[in-house]
Amino acid sequence: MTARLTVLGAGYLGITHAVCMAHLGHDVLAVDTDAGRVDQLNSGRVPIHEPGLADLLRSGLDSGRLGFTTSYREAARHGDVHFICVGTPQLRGRNRADLSQVNECVTTLAPLLDRQCLVVGKSTVPAGTAVRLAGELVRLAPAGAGIELAWNPEFLREGHAVADTLAPDRIVVGVTSPGAEKTLRTVYARLISGGTPFYATTPATAELAKSAANSFLATKISFINAMAELCEAAGADVTVLSEILGADARIGSAFLRPGLGFGGGCLPKDIRAFMARAAELGAGEALGFLREVDAVNLRCRTRMIELTCSLAGRNLSGAPVCVLGAAFKPGSDDVRDSPSLDVAQILHGMGAQVTVHDPVALANARRSCPQLNYATSALEAARGAAVVLVLTEWPEFTRLTPAELGGVVARQCIIDGRNALDPRLWQDAGWDYRALGVNARGPERSLADQGAARHSR
Ligand code: UDX
Repeated sequence: MTARLTVLGAGYLGITHAVCMAHLGHDVLAVDTDAGRVDQLNSGRVPIHEPGLADLLRSGLDSGRLGFTTSYREAARHGDVHFICVGTPQLRGRNRADLSQVNECVTTLAPLLDRQCLVVGKSTVPAGTAVRLAGELVRLAPAGAGIELAWNPEFLREGHAVADTLAPDRIVVGVTSPGAEKTLRTVYARLISGGTPFYATTPATAELAKSAANSFLATKISFINAMAELCEAAGADVTVLSEILGADARIGSAFLRPGLGFGGGCLPKDIRAFMARAAELGAGEALGFLREVDAVNLRCRTRMIELTCSLAGRNLSGAPVCVLGAAFKPGSDDVRDSPSLDVAQILHGMGAQVTVHDPVALANARRSCPQLNYATSALEAARGAAVVLVLTEWPEFTRLTPAELGGVVARQCIIDGRNALDPRLWQDAGWDYRALGVNARGPERSLADQGAARHSR
């Protein structure tokens, strides 16, 4: 059944949600306050790097079931269900969420709602936000109690946003009435009939589901990176340890890849906002471990700097350093809290001559860190380098051969910031290969070499 939907906010989440809902057959109008972005989207151009999104955007526009506007009034007229998809970044200088965009979205939309409808929050928010906003909507909307609020967190990963929206692991809705649940079951009918589990719960549980999921993922990554610190101290190899742990079905190998740690627009700020909200609720102790998760993660960056110094010589001043990768992970052009760009900036601050290359995030990196040098290819970035740092594991970088890079660098020193290269290949070619959590004398023989079943990483 076709529903009339609006999507408020055309960022990573909003564009993907709008485009995918139109693909599912709904009639979708998306709103953004940035007129340039709205024009760009209406002409079929996607302002972010997200595989598969451009084709779906164009087919949505061609179908006549998808459009973009700057007008909340038009949105209020159009929609029976309004999805809030605006950003909730970290509050500047504070470890808590900045809800100003969500608040503004509700206070702008509510006075225009003069008939019964459902407002659905998708943005990641602290527990309790939905109840507060539900009250605001009823107070500000001409339709009063005819306006209901539900929370429907999004679990999409950048780089996989389309697949994660059209084939999610689960759909979670926090509702306060059977009517709201029924409406959301209609919106997601095609996914539910395809077998996607659907959880209808309270708004508070739905809000927590997102924060808890991201906290768990962050904990897994920091766990293996803490083990990397231990491996260095004990002369062990964290990549082999990760394979061994991941082979236990109860642990699983996903999100157990050691290296430079997590970044991006979600995990770092979500764990901090989660801790802040827990403290407000009087349950701060329950999330005390997340402080360690955050600390271990930030320590990965410090350890990377120390490792670079130890290779390039204590005095980094003027040392040519090549950084491969600016995006916070491969498959994305997002540089928000990017570990690689953070390391590049610190090295630059210490006097190194840093040259960065990234296959898709160069423009964003340039905007956010104009002080660094940028190159349009990996080999150009590595020309004359005293040390090469692979900090985002783009396939373009993991495919580079020792001979190719060896032809342009000044010294054959490579730091594998994501444990994504084959150490022996580089060592056999005469390179000084280093990685976090891997013994400087060289990695152990891998499990596969020993004839054991290797878990693919
Ligand atoms: C995350 C969640 O996965 C997603 O469900 C949620 O909706 C939004 O936040 P995303 O920010 O796109 O998605 O990135 P993700 O794939 O989770 O990776 C986060 C960071 O962890 C990246 O910097 C990545 O490089 C790092 N990472 C991931 C590791 O360091 N090791 C791993 O094993 C996995």
